[in-house]
Amino acid sequence: MANFTGKTVLVTGATRGIGLAIAEEFAKAGANLAICASHETGLLQTAQKLASYDVRVYTQVVNISHADDCESFVANALKEFGQVDVLVNNAGITKDNLTVRMSEEDFDTVINVNLKGTFLMSKAALKVMFKKRNGSIVNISSVVGEMGNPGQANYVASKAGVIGLTKTFAKEFGSRNVRVNAVTPGFVQTAMTDQLSEEVKTRALEAVPLKRFAQTQDIAKAVLFLASDDAAYITGHILAVNGGLYI
Ligand SMILES: NC(=O)c1ccc[n+]([C@@H]2O[C@H](COP(=O)([O-])OP(=O)(O)OC[C@H]3O[C@@H](n4cnc5c(N)ncnc54)[C@H](O)[C@@H]3O)[C@@H](O)[C@H]2O)c1
Repeated sequence: MANFTGKTVLVTGATRGIGLAIAEEFAKAGANLAICASHETGLLQTAQKLASYDVRVYTQVVNISHADDCESFVANALKEFGQVDVLVNNAGITKDNLTVRMSEEDFDTVINVNLKGTFLMSKAALKVMFKKRNGSIVNISSVVGEMGNPGQANYVASKAGVIGLTKTFAKEFGSRNVRVNAVTPGFVQTAMTDQLSEEVKTRALEAVPLKRFAQTQDIAKAVLFLASDDAAYITGHILAVNGGLYI
């Protein structure tokens, strides 16, 4: 397992689901963590859980679609730990509807959080990494950003956009030794998928060669690999963690 002892890792949307699993895997690997979420709920609890791995934890309520929030989160993490080594852009939302019923507001909201938020947080962190000539960013996109999905025009556009950002950042910052990669999860067992009916779950699994939903740890381990020195010559890569759903 990669060792992140003494490193500082920033994870957005770390209070639950995939973000929580990512933060926990980094804590197990020895990283100090700066975590943020859109609401106070869960942040303290998450911080206590992570601190039980004997690492330092900084928390902040942040709206990643606001530039000032992103700048202050990165600045505070830098003040707290003296360095920023890894950023994981995990926070994301859905507001699903068929295109003809999707409001302009719901389109904008999802793009502002998932795509613009990834841009703004990356921009804030890249300024620090660029100067230090060292750093790694991992973006959480989605399999639907690669294959499209009815009822999710806003979400799919945002996640496809994240793939574009990943490749562009990789080209812009490679010469400064900053690597930027993305993970595209398929179905993941989270509170959201737990609510699906057995019939819907069975139908979804028919399309997955590995015949199970991902555990959040499956996604987290791929993120740790890309963030680690084991992936030192990997940048601009989109790593599918989808059980074979889209090949
Ligand atoms: N769950 C899945 O099956 C699945 C599949 C593919 C991709 N993904 C992606 O993985 C990521 C995590 O998904 P999840 O299901 O664990 O999410 P979740 O809804 O369980 O948690 C989302 C987290 O993001 C935070 N967040 C939301 N809006 C924010 C904002 N504006 N500013 C700061 N923080 C904000 C929330 O506070 C929360 O901590 C998302 O980017 C999602 O699109 C999820």
